[in-house]
Amino acid sequence: MNFKKIGIVAAMPEEFALLTARFGAKSAGSVGPREFFTASVGGREIVFTCSRIGKVAAASTATTLVQSFGVEAMLLTGVAGAIGSQARVGDVVIADSLVQHDIDLKGVLGYQRFQIPLLDLSAIPADPNLTRIAREAAASVVRDGEYVRAVGELALREPSFYCGTIASGDRFINSAQEREELLGLIPGVLAVEMEGAAVAQVCAEQRVPFAVARIISDSADHGANFDFLAFLRQAASVGSERMVSEFVGRL
Ligand code: ADE
Repeated sequence: MNFKKIGIVAAMPEEFALLTARFGAKSAGSVGPREFFTASVGGREIVFTCSRIGKVAAASTATTLVQSFGVEAMLLTGVAGAIGSQARVGDVVIADSLVQHDIDLKGVLGYQRFQIPLLDLSAIPADPNLTRIAREAAASVVRDGEYVRAVGELALREPSFYCGTIASGDRFINSAQEREELLGLIPGVLAVEMEGAAVAQVCAEQRVPFAVARIISDSADHGANFDFLAFLRQAASVGSERMVSEFVGRL
């Protein structure tokens, strides 16, 4: 691919922990509360940063990556909760589109539930080329010995990967009722997290191609708080590092 500068974002320190060392990235300074790191890989510059949790943090981070660092493409990675029966803990979900599940102007000014006024879209499509690369990367990650060991007994079956809709909102989903509600409202939703659709909106506005690759840490139900923390401790760092390495290696 032709991009000279690519942004890589993870929301949490646990997801970010191994990335800079893996690529030998050096600090390129801070903008506001966030530090940015750069590395040269295969003739490209990669800019890494940890957005912290939530849609506003993610949108602010993505905006800085585009406007201050001039990235021409972006990958967001980290963990997510599974929605529906396909993806399980340890699986990887690649977004083909992203929905902000907590935006609701239904019945006001003629909008539909989930519709984003500025873009006039409910589901923001990820870039097809980067998404194809992310799928190929995910296929490798779920067979990777280091990843499979890190996931260990947290995954109840061999990890696999899926591609579908990811929903994002400023809420940690940890009840079967909320999970079922999202499943009923958003066709094809596979996973929920708190940043992807915000990065998607910034990238769509700025015409920057992007992909989102998530590793399932929990099932967004009553066990989610416990499962999420266990996964963060045990597998989030290795999972994100494996995902980014496989992705960058295919660009
Ligand atoms: N990220 C990981 N698990 C999540 C969940 N259950 N809800 C929202 N974001 C998440």
